[in-house]
Amino acid sequence: MELNIEYSNISLTNEKMEALVVFVAEDSDLRGSGLSALPSQLKKNLVDSMKLKVFSGKKGKSQQLFSGYTKIPQILAVGVGKKAELDAETIRRSAGHAGKLLTSLKANKVGFVVSSLLQAASETDVGQLLVEGLVLGAYEFNLYKKPQNNKSNPKSIKIHCCDPEKITSLKALKAGKIRADGTNTARTLGNLPANDLKPKDLATEAKKIARQYKMECTVLEEKEMKKLGMGMLLGVSRGSREPAKLIILEYNHQKAKQTLAIVGKGVTFDSGGISLKPGKNMDEMKFDMCGAAAVLGAMKVIGQINPKLNIVAVIPTTENLPGGEAQRPGDIVTAHNGKRVEILNTDAEGRLILGDALSYVVKEFKPDAVIDLATLTGACVTALGHLTTGAITNNDDLMEQVRIAGNSSGDRVWQLPSFPEYGEAIKGKYADLQNIGGGDSGTIVGGMFLEHFVADTPWVHLDIAGTSWNVKYIAYQPNSGATGVGVRLLVDLVQNWTPTK
Ligand code: BES
Ligand code: ZN
Ligand code: ZN
Repeated sequence: MELNIEYSNISLTNEKMEALVVFVAEDSDLRGSGLSALPSQLKKNLVDSMKLKVFSGKKGKSQQLFSGYTKIPQILAVGVGKKAELDAETIRRSAGHAGKLLTSLKANKVGFVVSSLLQAASETDVGQLLVEGLVLGAYEFNLYKKPQNNKSNPKSIKIHCCDPEKITSLKALKAGKIRADGTNTARTLGNLPANDLKPKDLATEAKKIARQYKMECTVLEEKEMKKLGMGMLLGVSRGSREPAKLIILEYNHQKAKQTLAIVGKGVTFDSGGISLKPGKNMDEMKFDMCGAAAVLGAMKVIGQINPKLNIVAVIPTTENLPGGEAQRPGDIVTAHNGKRVEILNTDAEGRLILGDALSYVVKEFKPDAVIDLATLTGACVTALGHLTTGAITNNDDLMEQVRIAGNSSGDRVWQLPSFPEYGEAIKGKYADLQNIGGGDSGTIVGGMFLEHFVADTPWVHLDIAGTSWNVKYIAYQPNSGATGVGVRLLVDLVQNWTPTK
């Protein structure tokens, strides 16, 4: 559902709306902290419901209450837990919880209250966090569903930000909305089925972003890839009739001193190729372009916040199918950087297309740092589950910046070791490299394969296989489907960029 946020420093006692979202700490007496501005009848009902333990204020708990106040008949009370334990992520999740509630509420106009109770908790503007959480939480992917039982559920709700203590600003609220919208764009790209989202559609999306935010977009076709010697990307693409694309989207700032490259895996469907995957859950391999989606979502946000950094986004995109022309296990291909690679498993295709993209961006743009995002290995889901993105790096300073951006955005990251011995597994028997190793530590080996294509550029690889879809226990994430992981991490990284040496 679309939320239209309005900033109105309206007096709560005059405005008419169908419901008011109020965030309450379990140990708050509701007297200080901005909630004193609530209409008295409404406040009385809220206090009584806490006294009667109808509503506890505990983290993750919420209660729909009748307010007894005719102008605002309903209260959506959302618990944020103990005051002392409040942090940015709790605020975002509480708002996400509220956003989810709004999708099932029959209302056109609701408000939410920003109070100083929340502000003390975070360096980030609370207004931004609340809007971000609300808009993320209210996201639904229902393009392919008729509205149920002919109910004409409202497609959008007007949300008034009620800020009696003047805590937030229009700018912060807008930032929250832009960040959530960018994430939701990535979610929708992820959720679209592979028959409606092909490599050419990712290219169309990139061009649309370029047009809208005055960026430069170039799409390389297979003929050009051939000239450039991208044998790994072309090898993967051979099994499909859909032509592969290499999308390049450039954002430049006049005062920029550094260039960051962001590279996203764009396999719009991964059947495994000749090394065919088992049927169970194969449908989920439509999500194998979530790295690309994160990069596009981030570029959309970047186009609106104008950071002082040049950013070049590169998306290698293809299907991985077992057509008659498909590459075979045992084939040897030549990568963009000249290395020969023996394909031992056609299902380890992400590293192949990313290897060519990384080598290309490093050579052509000489970036100061490069981040890649990829649904690279099932092993990462085994290691870290769905709550943490795995990372491999060749540069501890860059890794630290990424880790910090992960924490501030909620897209948390955990570094895995990359001791050189792990890399022995992909030394080739008949070629320089082979695309799979012995079997153990698959996430590390996959990451270290990529390292062969970044030369000396500071680099962080993010394996988002677990965090890209079906994430549970985080209220601003959808109950199923794509999460848009990486968008807000990249935005935070760019906004707080400190030059790499
Ligand atoms: N796209 C998959 C990784 C994946 C699998 C992500 C399941 C999320 C859930 C990737 O292309 C792949 O198939 N990797 C193989 C690598 C193996 C052949 C070394 C894998 O993880 O099994
Ligand atoms: Zn695969
Ligand atoms: Zn894949």
